[in-house]
Amino acid sequence: MKSFSGKKVNTAVFISGTGSNFKNLLNFSLKKSSPIKIIFVYSNFKKAKGLKYAKNNKILIYSFVNKKFNLSENKLLKILNKKKIKLICLAGFMKILSKRFLKKFNGCVLNIHPSLLPKYKGLNTHQRVLDNREKYSGCTVHLVTSKLDSGKIILQKKIKVKKNDSARSLKRRILKEEYKIYPKAINKLLVNY
Ligand code: GAR
Repeated sequence: MKSFSGKKVNTAVFISGTGSNFKNLLNFSLKKSSPIKIIFVYSNFKKAKGLKYAKNNKILIYSFVNKKFNLSENKLLKILNKKKIKLICLAGFMKILSKRFLKKFNGCVLNIHPSLLPKYKGLNTHQRVLDNREKYSGCTVHLVTSKLDSGKIILQKKIKVKKNDSARSLKRRILKEEYKIYPKAINKLLVNY
């Protein structure tokens, strides 16, 4: 898992919303030098915008959610196994994967979060950063554990919070950085480890 031998690593992306990080990862994956191949996108939310984009780009999509998420996880494990997926990239995926799922999945799971973890886990990150008058914010790519926004940090990018920043402007500037560090973190994990 830790070395890139020239054969692209089968990857699944999990989303819940817009999917702009997914779009970015898809563009990255299509480069010759990229170590990943995106096999499918899963969303727990049928109307996730990113699914439409995936479909238009001929990427296989799955969208289902059971009242008990562990049933969805069972379905997912079967698909992941069948498609020989070795890397899952969470990209705005708003469900917490269970310990059991993470143990059973035979590969790595990465997540991107719009803060300088371990600070500001969870939702409303940008507003909380502004409310606390933080000088800096940023984004983090980390390995996933069953605890919210935790796990070994692979890469982090720090940016200055501007005096006139709103949650919206901060989000926009941080997203731009997310698009840079997610592919870099994947390379770090799979190629230059
Ligand atoms: C991104 O900012 C991502 O970092 C964040 O959701 C947004 C999804 O945007 N993820 C989390 O907050 C995870 N805890 P996108 O759907 O446009 O990629």
